[in-house]
Amino acid sequence: MMLVVPGFAKVDDDLTYANYDQVKVSHVHLDLTVDFEQKALVGSAELTLDWSDKDAKTLYLDTRDLVVDQVKAKQGEGDWQKVNFKLGKRDDVMGAKLTIKPDFQADKLLVKYKSQPQASGLQWLSKEQTAGKKLPFMFSQNQAIHARSWIPIQDTPAVRMTYTAQINTDKSLLAVMSANNEPGTERDGDYQFTMPQAIPAYLIAIAVGDLEFKAMSEQTGIYAEQYILDASVAEFDDTQDMITASEKLYGEYRWGRYDLLMLPPSFPFGGMENPRLSFITPTVVAGDKSLVNLIAHELAHSWSGNLVTNATWRDLWLNEGFTSYVENRIMEVVFSKERSVMEQVLAVESLKSDMKTLPADDTILHLDLKGRDPDAAFSNIPYVKGQLFLIFLEKRYGRERFDPFVLAYFNHFAFQSITTDDFLQYMNNNLIKKYPGIVSNKEVDEWVFGKGLPATTPNPTSDVFTKVETQSKAWQAGTLSLDKIPTDKWTVHEWLYFINELPRDLALQKMQELDKAFDLTTSQNAEIAHAWYLLALINGYDVIKPQLEEYLISIGRRKLIVPLYMKLAETDAGLVWVKPVYAKARPGYHPLAQGTIDEILRE
Ligand code: BES
Ligand code: ZN
Repeated sequence: MMLVVPGFAKVDDDLTYANYDQVKVSHVHLDLTVDFEQKALVGSAELTLDWSDKDAKTLYLDTRDLVVDQVKAKQGEGDWQKVNFKLGKRDDVMGAKLTIKPDFQADKLLVKYKSQPQASGLQWLSKEQTAGKKLPFMFSQNQAIHARSWIPIQDTPAVRMTYTAQINTDKSLLAVMSANNEPGTERDGDYQFTMPQAIPAYLIAIAVGDLEFKAMSEQTGIYAEQYILDASVAEFDDTQDMITASEKLYGEYRWGRYDLLMLPPSFPFGGMENPRLSFITPTVVAGDKSLVNLIAHELAHSWSGNLVTNATWRDLWLNEGFTSYVENRIMEVVFSKERSVMEQVLAVESLKSDMKTLPADDTILHLDLKGRDPDAAFSNIPYVKGQLFLIFLEKRYGRERFDPFVLAYFNHFAFQSITTDDFLQYMNNNLIKKYPGIVSNKEVDEWVFGKGLPATTPNPTSDVFTKVETQSKAWQAGTLSLDKIPTDKWTVHEWLYFINELPRDLALQKMQELDKAFDLTTSQNAEIAHAWYLLALINGYDVIKPQLEEYLISIGRRKLIVPLYMKLAETDAGLVWVKPVYAKARPGYHPLAQGTIDEILRE
């Protein structure tokens, strides 16, 4: 679909059926009832259409596993008229194309529909599956292409729309959306939302549950189940400072409120940047703020991603690379340079370990996704290689030139969806050509279109980590005992570096020694536990198995569990052990995590 219509950007998203070169949805009104019995959202979507092709009448929408009852259309102030529609064959990646053919050019469409229990973008938790055990919980996760599993929509980041919603739930539940959540909202089961800023469908979000609210500042607050509300407020009380830091660098926060929503542990991601209301995994509530870069990350998306959006999922690095860069700049201001550099080093470490197993083509920033499930192509490349590219530019130009460039970039493309080419063109005019002789086009091409890591890749180093490494090596060589290493002063970052750098063939007796001294097997920090379990599986240190089982059953965040399942699936013994564990864990996992792990454990 490379049709170019004057006035419409040339865009090419392979993952949508929408004919958005002819027509764009400019507004959607959702009227939905949240039915926990049926595990369904039931109601309608009213779409307002903006036609660039004045002769076209046919419209294609994205759907996946929706039951469509009826479609009506109208022109201007005319009456609603029933129109024919056809739901195509379901494609595993794309879902089913909904073809709507009125015999006039419709200004508005009304689709009556419901979602199904297996909706890929929703998770339905029974009350027993929640912490409070009293009321059920439901939440959406649309990115990348799961909006279509609960809204018939043009599910491409190239199309931006405003939205409003009427949401009906049981009276005892609170509904929140990526829209105007009012702190004092009374729980009455009857909720209205407005999102007046145009956003792509992947940023429409909803959650319903036994939610309480607590303010952190005038502008920020937390929605959570009671069990984790106070702990979250304490953990994330730097959020306002993070906003201030980011505004100073990149301009005004343009979305009004910024709240956080704490999801159940089955949330498949660390966080999701739903506008005005970031969705957050409870696995980052560590008690010591050690993992709050996640908040900086989701907040940073308020500029990179939500304000300036990747036009296709090929351009994901524009969202995630910029965001990882901005996240780290925020961490530097709110915490310290030392911490921000440690986080860079840890990120580069995980990038390099990803690179070992990724096919060379998947190490390209401008990734080719044709025919592929974007979830399956997910890696650290857009995040960390993207971030390194920006650090490279920052170092070459200096912050005095690079920071104003990034600020101007966000302002120039505010509320637009852009491709990698749009960015490159803008950068060429406003950075490369403006300050000649600093970075060549060839260098830029190598970063964006080349495989692996370019020769110009920055190599962040941390003195703190260098010390850890020296001490670790001395202990491994038997010249330093563990009690001589000042681990009581270590932060989580040092622990992660220490564990990740240990040899993959460490003697069992050494593993035991570590465990005895530091209780790593029972670590309550989800990241430390993850790193330790992975090392233990590689080194055959089976003592972890009971805790690992508990971990896999209680957490559904993919980044934390998928590498463990993959490691276990490498051996017959691992498979024999993990299959019954997975049988127990699976019902509590999100459909996305179930899909990924079903794939890994399939023989
Ligand atoms: N937007 C992403 C999550 C995402 C990306 C969902 C692609 C679906 C497709 C979110 O902002 C994110 O990157 N989360 C990370 C945070 C981490 C890098 C601090 C996560 O979930 O781990
Ligand atoms: Zn992100």
